Amino acid sequence: MEQSSTLGVIVVGTGFVADSHLAALRSRADAHLVGVVDVAPERAAATARAQGGVRWSTDLAEALSWPGVAAAIVCTPNDTHSALARQIAGAGCHLLIEKPLATSVADARAAADAFATAGRVLAVAHTHRCYDYARAVRRAITSGEVGRPRLVRLSVLGGWIWPDWRGWMLDGRRSGGHALHNGVHLLDVVTWWIGCPPVSVFARGHKQTSSELDIYDHLEMVVRFEGGAVAVCEMSRGHRPATLAMRDVFVQGTAGLLTLPWDADASLLIDERGPGLLPTVASDGFARQLDAWLAALHGTAPPVDGHDGVLAVALGVAAERSIVAGAPVSVADVLATEPREVPA
Ligand SMILES: NC(=O)c1ccc[n+]([C@@H]2O[C@H](COP(=O)([O-])OP(=O)(O)OC[C@H]3O[C@@H](n4cnc5c(N)ncnc54)[C@H](O)[C@@H]3O)[C@@H](O)[C@H]2O)c1
Repeated sequence: MEQSSTLGVIVVGTGFVADSHLAALRSRADAHLVGVVDVAPERAAATARAQGGVRWSTDLAEALSWPGVAAAIVCTPNDTHSALARQIAGAGCHLLIEKPLATSVADARAAADAFATAGRVLAVAHTHRCYDYARAVRRAITSGEVGRPRLVRLSVLGGWIWPDWRGWMLDGRRSGGHALHNGVHLLDVVTWWIGCPPVSVFARGHKQTSSELDIYDHLEMVVRFEGGAVAVCEMSRGHRPATLAMRDVFVQGTAGLLTLPWDADASLLIDERGPGLLPTVASDGFARQLDAWLAALHGTAPPVDGHDGVLAVALGVAAERSIVAGAPVSVADVLATEPREVPA
């Protein structure tokens, strides 16, 4: 296919996660990379070279005016998301933006509203929804195999945060705090699995790596849902050994239970017929996420739309507030107390 007949995309922010999006984009025949943007010129230039000599800039406005640009993938620090999203909507482009959509509900709403007004597709990269494990659990729930979920336990335990994490990730004012930065993956995916509106979040934070950390590197978060289901989430980036990447899932439903331990390839479903393994697939979550966003440009629902993105931010903010308050925080209160309008 000729490049000019495919969707022209820019990638904004060329740090760690951009590589996964760029790799997914390279495999597409219906989209191509026009260029990259980063406030750090050396990083933008190096990425542009590595991507075969595409254009680069430190200025998003300039990149949005390059010929053929119709869409953007934003991979910048969390506190930059809302303003960049609104600029991209204002230029009439579609957007796949990294999670969280913003660091406050008001900013997240402003971004989502800008896309609704512009009539362009906004998708938020809550990538866990596109991973095989999360899709297997969701399938077992929506097919009725485990019945209605009553209790979900999800642990995602990662290794030592030093020395990989840079300034903004360790600065709660820039990341929104760890519950919003990384905890939001779990908060979003359990809400997607359970399929009912979340009512409250009760969270505790621990500083495992160092008591001098500005963020909590180990989180316990309990989410209560309308209808009575409960999700117990544990998220860590402070465990030893440094290479640890452990994930554990347990779902108790009205018809049976599902477990997906970290060392297993397939979920074990136990219902009245006895235990059985669910079929496995092996796909790339970032490629699947890109696929779903590009499909949404042709009319299908985006995998995580602006509404989901706002709700996920509200859950993360509720968790952050709960850690401070030492008590459950109502999601409705978070959605109601954040002002609807923010300055442009
Ligand atoms: N979906 C996932 O699984 C996943 C995984 C990791 C990170 N993330 C998210 O991706 C985003 C980026 O994280 P990262 O780990 O790649 O960070 P990073 O620090 O490695 O990269 C961020 C890049 O953005 C650039 N940048 C900063 N402000 C900018 C601006 N205003 N305009 C253009 N460029 C700017 C920085 O110079 C840097 O190169 C964050 O929102 C993070 O939460 C998501």
